[in-house]
Amino acid sequence: MPEMNSDIEKNALKKLFLNNKRDIDVFVYESIDSTNTQAKHLFKRDGKDMLICSKMQTAGRGRSGKSFYSPDKTGVYMSVVLHGEMPLTVAAKATTAAAVAVCQAIEELTDKKPQIKWVNDIFLDKKKICGILTEAVPSENRNTADGLIIGIGLNVSTESFPDELKDIAGSLDSEEIDKNLLVFHICDKLLKYSENLEDPSVIEKYKARCLVLGKKITFSKNGETFFAYALDIDKNGGLIVKTENGETLTLNSGEISIKI
Ligand code: BTN
Repeated sequence: MPEMNSDIEKNALKKLFLNNKRDIDVFVYESIDSTNTQAKHLFKRDGKDMLICSKMQTAGRGRSGKSFYSPDKTGVYMSVVLHGEMPLTVAAKATTAAAVAVCQAIEELTDKKPQIKWVNDIFLDKKKICGILTEAVPSENRNTADGLIIGIGLNVSTESFPDELKDIAGSLDSEEIDKNLLVFHICDKLLKYSENLEDPSVIEKYKARCLVLGKKITFSKNGETFFAYALDIDKNGGLIVKTENGETLTLNSGEISIKI
């Protein structure tokens, strides 16, 4: 783990002044294992919210222990670090807010219309272009979080993917788009939403872009696979589904599958 006050950290440190009048410290790296892992190392630095970005990641992490393919200079790999005591359940809401922030940033800077696959994936033209990994930093008593690390990986101009990804992963396909501007827009919106993660308008924005609502999905529970219809998103970002046997339930985490 790099020393907190090492030259690497000093050279990487910049400041970002956001539209919402907040300034945050920004760490920019040429290459790093994972911006989320680095965020954990820097979390206790000075209690200030931070943005950590890298031009590539050598060990990018996805949900459920998967890796996130992060080749050099073709994507946005960023982690937003928020401090403050909060319930552990807030991580799901932050993921919801991050998905909306990413979609809005893309909509503002391009003519593309991305969609959200519950809970944390952004799709464009039937391919996943972005994933979000939100990690709560547990407090000492472990019942609450001392903060959140919201990691966002967005393929901007990645053209070739490893064999196992090439049928499912895509990219924004916008060579000319300024990645710094994308990061700025995403971060600005995400920090604004994070001031009030209870704001119901974020869920409305999420629903408006959610590609699973009204569709047939499958999900797994205790090793069993269920077929269901995706009905709605609840106020916590949970997915309300109706199973084949007529039972209505809310999924709060996990993966769903849908034919896209
Ligand atoms: C997923 O698709 O399962 C989530 C992928 C999250 C990837 C981002 S890239 C920036 C940040 N650092 C990581 O190691 N992961 C997240």
